[in-house]
Amino acid sequence: MKAVRFNEYGGLDVLKIKDVEAPHAGPGQVRIAVRAAGVNPIDWKLRAGYVHDFMPLTFPAGVGSEAAGIVDEVGAGVTGVAVGDAVFGYGQNTVAEHAVLRAWAHVPDTMPMDVAGGMAVIAETATRILDQVHLKPGETLLIAGAAGGVGTAVIQLARQRGAIVIGTASAPKHAYLRELGAIPTTYEPGLAARVRELAPLGVNAALDLAGAGLIPELIAIVGDPARVVSIADVTAPHHGAAFSARSAEHPEHAFAEVARLYREGAFQLRIEQTFPMEHIARAQEVSAAGRVSGKLVIIMD
Ligand SMILES: NC(=O)c1ccc[n+]([C@@H]2O[C@H](COP(=O)([O-])OP(=O)(O)OC[C@H]3O[C@@H](n4cnc5c(N)ncnc54)[C@H](OP(=O)(O)O)[C@@H]3O)[C@@H](O)[C@H]2O)c1
Repeated sequence: MKAVRFNEYGGLDVLKIKDVEAPHAGPGQVRIAVRAAGVNPIDWKLRAGYVHDFMPLTFPAGVGSEAAGIVDEVGAGVTGVAVGDAVFGYGQNTVAEHAVLRAWAHVPDTMPMDVAGGMAVIAETATRILDQVHLKPGETLLIAGAAGGVGTAVIQLARQRGAIVIGTASAPKHAYLRELGAIPTTYEPGLAARVRELAPLGVNAALDLAGAGLIPELIAIVGDPARVVSIADVTAPHHGAAFSARSAEHPEHAFAEVARLYREGAFQLRIEQTFPMEHIARAQEVSAAGRVSGKLVIIMD
């Protein structure tokens, strides 16, 4: 099968399309014929070696941690899914013609495959960090960096939990945040004062998705470091806040929940751009520029 591989840390030019052996579904896994695979910032961070200290690669390495496709092998012990089913979920080396998934949910009939391919990472991450700040109905949540993929999911899932959501983004993206149910503000200096005007009764919890050195300010706004979580700033624990990095061992319930909400018209995901596998370098370049609203997705023929 054709798949993306790279043999060393480096720039976009290390990414190659190779003919490789297709993987097989082991116990508890399924294999899919990939239709769409989401592009995430971790893909280019891994390729460039930026996260080598805590996520070292062995070479040749593949690209991609999520995908949607049609099941073509079912591993031992797997129930509730059959060859021919459309599923999306978490896997490894998913930018390939076939990929093995370790956790999945069925794709709703109404969900296009490109949307399904970009759904797993944002669903699991958003669910995990909302659980981690113990968000309750009626509370106010502040999200720094709300217009990207994870922000898109966090806003909608927090609104589903009955929270009021304030999100930061550059001004051109404020209409997008409003569409998702958040009150937008910019991320220029003076955030605390702007947030005080938008939420005179205060903010109960904050999520940092931007990694732009905001942790002390978010703690000051919330007043409790235990209710501030970052997924993008490893220094968060130095200030008493949490850094959340490890994906849930069983993300299936998060996948199934966004699938249910999508079916009911209560969850949306904008796919900003799609790329063929041959344009993987361009896709990572766009992701690394840091301006995506929603998701980028690789589409298989
Ligand atoms: N630890 C984990 O488990 C985990 C899981 C998933 C993702 N992540 C990390 O979390 C971060 C967000 O992921 P993502 O997939 O949502 O990324 P993304 O889709 O690439 O996010 C892009 C968005 O970030 C916004 N942005 C950039 N700089 C900003 C700033 N200084 N303040 C506020 N917003 C800013 C941009 O909005 P503007 O154009 O308006 O600036 C853009 O809409 C990445 O660093 C990613 O690696 C971590």
